[in-house]
Amino acid sequence: MQNLHHAVAVGGIELPGNLFLAPVAGYSDAAFRSVCIDEGADLCFTEMVSSEALTRGHSRTQELLVRADNEKAWAIQLFGSQPAVLARACEAIIPLEPLVVDLNCGCPVPKIVRNGAGSALMREPGKLADIVRAMSLALAPAGIPLTVKIRLGWDAQSINYHEVAGLAVEAGAAAVTLHARTRAQAYSGTADWTAISQLVRDLRVPVFGSGDISSAEAVLRFMVETGAAGVMIARGAMGNPGIFRETLKLLEGGTSPVMTTAQKAEIARRHLALSVVYLGERTACVEFRKQFCSYTKGSKAGAELRNEAVHASSAAQFEGLFQRWVEAAGI
Ligand SMILES: Cc1cc2nc3c(=O)[nH]c(=O)nc-3n(C[C@H](O)[C@H](O)[C@H](O)COP(=O)(O)O)c2cc1C
Repeated sequence: MQNLHHAVAVGGIELPGNLFLAPVAGYSDAAFRSVCIDEGADLCFTEMVSSEALTRGHSRTQELLVRADNEKAWAIQLFGSQPAVLARACEAIIPLEPLVVDLNCGCPVPKIVRNGAGSALMREPGKLADIVRAMSLALAPAGIPLTVKIRLGWDAQSINYHEVAGLAVEAGAAAVTLHARTRAQAYSGTADWTAISQLVRDLRVPVFGSGDISSAEAVLRFMVETGAAGVMIARGAMGNPGIFRETLKLLEGGTSPVMTTAQKAEIARRHLALSVVYLGERTACVEFRKQFCSYTKGSKAGAELRNEAVHASSAAQFEGLFQRWVEAAGI
């Protein structure tokens, strides 16, 4: 089998590998990205950052732009609807030295779409191209490539990913990620990997895939079926950063190791400890409640522990929950 784990040339630079943590709002913060890097992710994307808020200097936005200590390289995703504002946002983040900047053209959330951003851009390919042109120009002096993350289209009646991807590349996008669902599907239904194969065949830039790539076996199947240059893992990594380690093993020809609950709890502990460093104990614990729910999904005694976790507000309380989680599993 050909080597499926490899570096990827994007624009004038090289991504260190092709296993990425997808941008996931509310999850892919510095602590989570740090744990994913430790577990083998090649590059992690920040969650989507508002170009409007960034150019106005909002402090909450600055918090989203904290880079983890072990991130040798990182990728920043921006959203917005105005070419000039997105260009200014690019200029503002150049000093943060992202390896690539990504434009969000897929967010389905009504608040975002109402403002013409996220997946609303799928309905305005001309505007999307203007934005790509403005952002690429702004990033060019720093040699930072712009990538775009799109969906299949707005809904089943307006599938236009092929046209949109082509226009984006013409306008300067150095790579395209296709989340192979429509905006109407949001995050349900099966992602259409055949659409990703088509882009791989037809675009002259690297194509990355997203959607239902949620286990090491799924990554392998996805790469073989589509020939995509890389994968973005999203929900598959939530509560399961070990997916990167498992995937690397599998892609190297080994078998994907089955993680014990004790090993998972060790990762979760590290994750919380890093969150405390980046956010302080109080905020970290509030933020970690949902992460704990992801980690313990499907575990023995998980429901009971989750009921307690949603009220936990200290690292000590979480430590008690970690111990009971492992004890309940018996391994
Ligand atoms: C809670 C949540 C937040 C997300 N936030 C973002 C985001 O900020 N930017 C983005 O491009 N995609 C975002 N996504 C989409 C994911 O990056 C990914 O494309 C999608 O979940 C499909 O992959 P999956 O089926 O493997 O989860 C989000 C998805 C979820 C579930």
